[in-house]
Amino acid sequence: MKRLTVKEIFALEPDGRSITVKGWIRTKRETKAAVFLELNDGSRMGNLQCVFGEAEAAANSGEIARAGTGASVSVTGSLVASPAAGQKLELRAESVSVIGEAPAETYPLQKKAHSLEFLREIAHLRPRTNTFGAVARVRNRMAFAVHQFFQGRGFQYIHTPLITASDAEGAGAMFQVTTLDLARIASSGQEPDYSKDFFGKPAYLTVSGQLNVETYCEALGSVYTFGPTFRAENSNTSRHLSEFWMIEPEVAFADIGDNMDLAEDFLKHLVTVALEDCAEDLEFFDKRIQPGLLESLRKVISSPFTRMSYTDAVKELEKSPGSFEFKPYWGCDLQSEHEKFLTEKVAGGPVIVTDYPKEIKSFYMKVNEDGKTVRAMDVLVPRFGEIIGGSEREEGLEVLLGRIRDLGLREQDYWWYLDLRRYGTTPHSGFGLGFERLMLYVTGMTNIRDVIPFPRAPKLADF
Ligand code: 4AD
Ligand code: MG
Repeated sequence: MKRLTVKEIFALEPDGRSITVKGWIRTKRETKAAVFLELNDGSRMGNLQCVFGEAEAAANSGEIARAGTGASVSVTGSLVASPAAGQKLELRAESVSVIGEAPAETYPLQKKAHSLEFLREIAHLRPRTNTFGAVARVRNRMAFAVHQFFQGRGFQYIHTPLITASDAEGAGAMFQVTTLDLARIASSGQEPDYSKDFFGKPAYLTVSGQLNVETYCEALGSVYTFGPTFRAENSNTSRHLSEFWMIEPEVAFADIGDNMDLAEDFLKHLVTVALEDCAEDLEFFDKRIQPGLLESLRKVISSPFTRMSYTDAVKELEKSPGSFEFKPYWGCDLQSEHEKFLTEKVAGGPVIVTDYPKEIKSFYMKVNEDGKTVRAMDVLVPRFGEIIGGSEREEGLEVLLGRIRDLGLREQDYWWYLDLRRYGTTPHSGFGLGFERLMLYVTGMTNIRDVIPFPRAPKLADF
């Protein structure tokens, strides 16, 4: 008989039809009169309860004995209405066969609740828990929603390279990619000869697809890239990964106002899809992980984001100097405690901060008339701060060259990027959304290592 998923089964009527379901046992409960197997197959959060009456339990006693927590099984029976509260269906089971046992002495995921820290150590088994199954399903839906949003607006999806010889953000912290024999070089005491390296020069894993995607923006108009990015910063926080996924749209003839509108529409679209299509999983997060999550997400889609300049944001922060470990002043980089304050205490929701001092932002951001600030925009959200970073780009060749020189960057590294300003330059804008930050936002999970299947962070590259 063809296997039906639990999700498919819950779309059926309890009409007594005969079905086969396959999955993993979450729990087994045995009474005198019946045996209950809770079966989960990952197609949805909820289990299918398989109930064996006395006669069926006796007929299947050998297999039932082997069907402990974690075992994979195939169960056949008839689909009936459930007398139990909180579930509309159950399987009146006739037969069960164990496909793969999970010996209780060694299987790490027993009935009790496990801490997220413990589950990180068994990242290969954690998708079998309610929490990580839900995270995986929401992550899948959000990735699809990203493409739906941009495709629906006529954006072209551009594949930007992961290996690069230029440092997009103009600031270190990159992973080097090399085929040179490091041990030999070290023992020789000589400097590495990069002409002998794979690419004939030093190469790195990209920190952002932005500079590459800008080239296609200046030809196709509205584009985006969505791929892995890598940062070798030694940031051991619950908001940073060394390998994370980023979505970077870039739009020609768009200014910072258009950019803010796009970012706000994009986030609202993603939250709307999560609320509509991941309702069962989000209810779980609301109940078990982050009380109030659903209410705050609903509020996000129904109210406009607060917008304020960096200068006004610093004024707000200076009104409450006692609230911070790091004292805010004009010119300082906003710390996550400042970002939390602005969103939670000042705005009560997402905030878009614009026009940061140029010293704390990247070389490619458009310089304002004041000569001191750039047309940067960061979208900040309650709980963890920055979720999006972006800007209007400097389209003038001379100003951009000046910025590159002032920052001590090497002009020749950016020759092709500068060509975009030499030939048919246009105003253009874009931003980057950290996909795992989005996941923290919609699931209410608090550690970024729990919203990516296999996290990479300093001293952490297991699995
Ligand atoms: O603000 P960032 O560094 O901006 C850029 O990379 C630009 N090139 C984007 C653009 O304009 N096209 O990073 C963008 C976003 C951040 O707002 C944050 O959500 C996420 O990427 N991010 C990280 N997420 C996880 N771990 C890290 N180490 C991250 N660093 C940035
Ligand atoms: Mg940033």
